[in-house]
Amino acid sequence: MAETINSIKHLASPLASQTLLDGQLTGPVAGKRPIRLLPWLQVVKIGGRAIMDRGAEAILPIVDELRKLLPEHRLLILTGAGIRARHLYGVGLDLGLPVGSLAPLAASEAGQNGHILASLLAPEGVSYIEHPTIANQLAIHLSATRAVVGSAFPPYHHHEFPGSRIPPHRADTGAFLLADAFGAAGLTIVEDVDGVYTDDPNGPDGAKAELIREAGYGEFARLEGALPFDRALLEVMANARHIERVQIVNGRVPGRLTAALRGEHVGTIIHTGARQV
Ligand SMILES: Nc1ncnc2c1ncn2[C@@H]1O[C@H](COP(=O)(O)OP(=O)(O)OP(=O)(O)O)[C@@H](O)[C@H]1O
Ligand SMILES: [Mg+2]
Repeated sequence: MAETINSIKHLASPLASQTLLDGQLTGPVAGKRPIRLLPWLQVVKIGGRAIMDRGAEAILPIVDELRKLLPEHRLLILTGAGIRARHLYGVGLDLGLPVGSLAPLAASEAGQNGHILASLLAPEGVSYIEHPTIANQLAIHLSATRAVVGSAFPPYHHHEFPGSRIPPHRADTGAFLLADAFGAAGLTIVEDVDGVYTDDPNGPDGAKAELIREAGYGEFARLEGALPFDRALLEVMANARHIERVQIVNGRVPGRLTAALRGEHVGTIIHTGARQV
């Protein structure tokens, strides 16, 4: 690409002379599928409310299951924010704080849950690592140990999109963005329900709710009621590059996470927009 004329170095770039908004011009250059950086990585998102908020009763069995999974998988374990973030949203919204102020505060709660989980797995060589380390040094960390723990919240912080007062990009979206960016082998989301239902199974009409075993992201987007993950996840799934399916499993039932990581269908599978080529 570099050409030397009259000792002046000219750098030719296929994107130099055009707007980046013209898809016809950028397509041939940017249309290629990105490489998979860590194709052996399994990403597991542990629910803040579903697991961490319940304390020892729910955390210790999951820690035990994760410990037993270490010889089989190399894991990026990401934790959600749970009830403390909900309390924080309540106080912050009452005070009129903008979404960009609430996002980093909620993210710090997800990080606290990660520190708790990492402490319990420390005897296995597992540590909590911050986002810049996940972004730049995950490979070396997972060469030295079988798993690391991080916050599932994406670090949009003060750049969080102002469309809603509650940060729209929360732990599920953050976990998916990382898994897709790394070209991971899979993403499993650990909840306290058997999967995604037509309506909240613990809500007032819970008795009528039916478990959806498998569907595309578009079908979940059409559900009008509550979901056990942030809706922004479905928007991101539409444009996924690597992660073709995500499984949502019940972490309160021993063995479900293990089975999911072995490729078994034990919860709800959501198919994304990523296509195998
Ligand atoms: N359509 C649905 N299908 C299944 N569960 C649902 C649905 N709608 C709401 N829920 C509820 O979502 C609950 C889980 O809540 P939530 O997803 O907020 O927890 P979490 O993922 O642990 O939290 P965090 O995002 O902080 O990590 C379930 O216990 C269930 O009652
Ligand atoms: Mg959830």
